[in-house]
Amino acid sequence: MSEGDLRDDDLGGHELGGDELGGDELGDDDLEAGPLELTGRITTASNATFLGTIGNTVVVYKPVSGERPLWDFPDGDLASREAAAYLVSESFGWNVVPRTWLRDGPLGTGMVQLWQDADPDQDAVDLVSADNVPDTGWRHVFDGSDERDRPVTLIHEDSPVLRRMAVFDIVVNNADRKGAHILEMADGHRHGVDHGLTFHSEHKLRTVLWGWIDEPLSTDELAGIDRVRSDLTGPLGEALAELVTPLEIASFAARCDRLLADGRFPGPRGRMPAVPWPIF
Ligand SMILES: Nc1ncnc2c1ncn2[C@@H]1O[C@H](COP(=O)(O)OP(=O)(O)O)[C@@H](O)[C@H]1O
Ligand SMILES: [Mg+2]
Repeated sequence: MSEGDLRDDDLGGHELGGDELGGDELGDDDLEAGPLELTGRITTASNATFLGTIGNTVVVYKPVSGERPLWDFPDGDLASREAAAYLVSESFGWNVVPRTWLRDGPLGTGMVQLWQDADPDQDAVDLVSADNVPDTGWRHVFDGSDERDRPVTLIHEDSPVLRRMAVFDIVVNNADRKGAHILEMADGHRHGVDHGLTFHSEHKLRTVLWGWIDEPLSTDELAGIDRVRSDLTGPLGEALAELVTPLEIASFAARCDRLLADGRFPGPRGRMPAVPWPIF
């Protein structure tokens, strides 16, 4: 799959602006209003997720009309939560979420996200046999057994870029960080996708990225949370108000404050499973 003329370093970053998209590339106005054509369907299961193009730009398109109602996320729509997650990612400045926005499409209003050509040969999260856990570079999540009762261990990469994603997930209260929602880019960057189950006012954190429980947050990570918390009283808060409920924004602020006060990665809590299913 091709991203047209967009280079990877043009994608999704907070530096991305209309001025940088010259030549044959589409400017902001076209991405927001240019014709969106469907080229395929990615998932047919729970929600309708499509692949499409706007000019030469490949995008994911999830129309609100294709969302299945969820008893535990009754407010608003998933597309707005995905757009909200992108705004938070931009405030962090860590380029976790590929550029995501709301716009009209062939099946009505929905979320659109820039497609990222991930590297199929890399895995940020892996299930290995228990006697084959690497000594360095990886973090242990949990032990279990496979379908033939052999001991296995879930591990994920131990990298600054994945730590940032874990911090992002904590503050947006991501209930669905499974393996397939981490895109491994060839240059080592990792993008997070599928953020429809975020911003709930109750604790919903469900993730495979539990490898740093109780570890101190780095200066960079604390600065990022601080930045988001400050932005929340300004433009970020105003933009989020259009997308999620006031209670959810208040809970979001409280999660930032708690994380800044604790200064370390939290562990699982509550009665709900701490890991999404399926894991990958
Ligand atoms: N922006 C993207 N770029 C590249 N691949 C993506 C992108 N968004 C989703 N995908 C891929 O498509 C799969 C399904 O998308 P996802 O957002 O999880 O949709 P759904 O809500 O239907 O689960 C993801 O697991 C991922 O592999
Ligand atoms: Mg998904």
